[in-house]
Amino acid sequence: MGWFDSLKRNNKTDEEAVNEENENEATLLESEVETVEMDQPDNDFAEDEPDSREGSAYQEESEETLSDRKPLKTMADKKPVTHTIGTTQIIGIINQKGGVGKSTTAVNLAAALGTMNKAALLVDLDPQGNATSGLGIDKGELESDIYDVLLSDLSVEEAIVPDVCEGLDVLPATINLAGAEVELVNEIARENRLKMALGSLRGKYDYIFIDCPPSLGLLTVNALVASDKLLIPIQCEFYALEGVTKLLDSMKRVKSLLNPALDIYGVLLTMYDGRTTLSRQVAEEVRRYFGKAVFETMVPRTVKLSEAPSYGLPITEYDPKGRGAEAYLNMAKEVIARG
Ligand SMILES: Nc1ncnc2c1ncn2[C@@H]1O[C@H](COP(=O)(O)OP(=O)(O)OP(=O)(O)O)[C@@H](O)[C@H]1O
Ligand SMILES: [Mg+2]
Repeated sequence: MGWFDSLKRNNKTDEEAVNEENENEATLLESEVETVEMDQPDNDFAEDEPDSREGSAYQEESEETLSDRKPLKTMADKKPVTHTIGTTQIIGIINQKGGVGKSTTAVNLAAALGTMNKAALLVDLDPQGNATSGLGIDKGELESDIYDVLLSDLSVEEAIVPDVCEGLDVLPATINLAGAEVELVNEIARENRLKMALGSLRGKYDYIFIDCPPSLGLLTVNALVASDKLLIPIQCEFYALEGVTKLLDSMKRVKSLLNPALDIYGVLLTMYDGRTTLSRQVAEEVRRYFGKAVFETMVPRTVKLSEAPSYGLPITEYDPKGRGAEAYLNMAKEVIARG
């Protein structure tokens, strides 16, 4: 029995409330291109580390960092796969709330699995391209990106940048993708474009992670249709569960109309600071709401995780002995154990 079914049985009143709320709202699928306003969280509660956004993906990349980058490879340069490949799992990393740790989780969880002899592909589905630049890919050097796969029928393998780090390939995004929300509207099978592209990669990777944008627009619908399961990062701050009802409702609609097998893979608590009562309370509340779906691992708030993208490195390479790397390696073990 999937998470949705158990929620239905255990939280009937919640669901009734959801339905009631949504009768009054334009629905996701009825207003396909409408996007929910980006909801950047406040990061101003007590912490004794410097502001985590300094030196992060929010900062312009320095020319020095760019010039240090290696030339991009193509799939033709990729070595033949030598390890056993299991059944590919396509996992959408989703939360329409902005800045909750989706890209940080996508990059570092995929990279951690790569170090554990798993073949991972990270699909950047966000026009901000944070996962792409956070892994040191120079967007200016790319000849194609995910936009061309979704809208110009380019073969997905031609757009993949292989071996970005150990065991990890990337399907990159650039600002081109910003036009896709609107351009897809008039296309045939607009909600299925990503599913069709990634379907051809089943059997080639152990895990495919999709880093979603902070909205519930057509790109996110493509991720919901393409995914087998969903991983929801939730930031341990005051409005943590705000918007979750709307997110779950969107998932349910896509599940009933377009992807019946869709389910929740898990919920990950991010930016946890055990010194604050607030973090502990949010963690408790999220565990009460989602139950066993919540991963044991909680990602701590640490400045190293926010610095790593500006060096174009996953945390397992930037600070392999630190708390951030430890958390994402533990998370990777839980992912492998969940199967
Ligand atoms: N565990 C953490 N500790 C400290 N800083 C973090 C942590 N996780 C993420 N950050 C920082 O918080 C900011 C938001 O994280 P991230 O970009 O991963 O969120 P997002 O959900 O992908 O955002 P968006 O919705 O804009 O795509 C970034 O500056 C990132 O470096
Ligand atoms: Mg992001």
